[in-house]
Amino acid sequence: MAIRKKIIAGNWKMNKTSTEAKTLVPEIQEKLGKFDQAEVVICPPFTALQTASEALGTHSDIALGAQNMHQAASGAYTGEISAAMLRDLFCRYVILGHSERRQYFGETDALVNEKAKVALKANLRPIVCVGETLAEREGGKMEEVVVSQTKGSCAGFSEEDWNNVVIAYEPVWAIGTGKTATPAQAQEVHALIRKTLGEIAGKAVADKVRIQYGGSVKADNAKELLNQPDIDGALVGGASLDAASFVAIIKNGSEK
Ligand code: PGA
Repeated sequence: MAIRKKIIAGNWKMNKTSTEAKTLVPEIQEKLGKFDQAEVVICPPFTALQTASEALGTHSDIALGAQNMHQAASGAYTGEISAAMLRDLFCRYVILGHSERRQYFGETDALVNEKAKVALKANLRPIVCVGETLAEREGGKMEEVVVSQTKGSCAGFSEEDWNNVVIAYEPVWAIGTGKTATPAQAQEVHALIRKTLGEIAGKAVADKVRIQYGGSVKADNAKELLNQPDIDGALVGGASLDAASFVAIIKNGSEK
């Protein structure tokens, strides 16, 4: 069985100006200190990436990620950002197919898959998000939705690609609502995603790909969630905007 290093990422969403990032990033670094028990990623908005990148410096224990990108290399796409632009600011990760992108900006599995392949070619590691809505869960469709989003968003990755892919399971009903999936509920879906990875890419891939949980992760639920056998990290929204709570999640979530 592959040893999967935990990965804890902060998704700032549309919060924090570049000026605010200038103080928040060093605060996180200072509170975290030297840390190698988990991989830590922060994903500020595009406008704060440069500041965050400079604040992190070149040998940081914290990696930088973006929250979205466009699939084209360059050109007439007003308001969009390319993979090369993100790499130029030393981004290593990019969140793709977050439920807010799917819900408010009409992103489909096919588009998420296209973006993920472009990201991988550009040496950016996609964090591919999947997750069901409350209506889908209550309508008995959770499995169908999660399996088809996983298959659709991750179609056609090469063996090598899979080394650089992270999946985030984020039940839409748990995002920003304070309603966390119970560790057992989350584990059940993570196991389902891992089984699906086995079907589409083989057991070796299923064993090594990291699957994060996201949705109202807080300092006091991080440890129990991240100790589930198939939960390999967290994608944290609201609680990543405060250095103390983000670092508490990282530390608690990395404890055995
Ligand atoms: P939340 O968001 O932690 O605020 O629930 C998680 C996410 O959407 O990534």
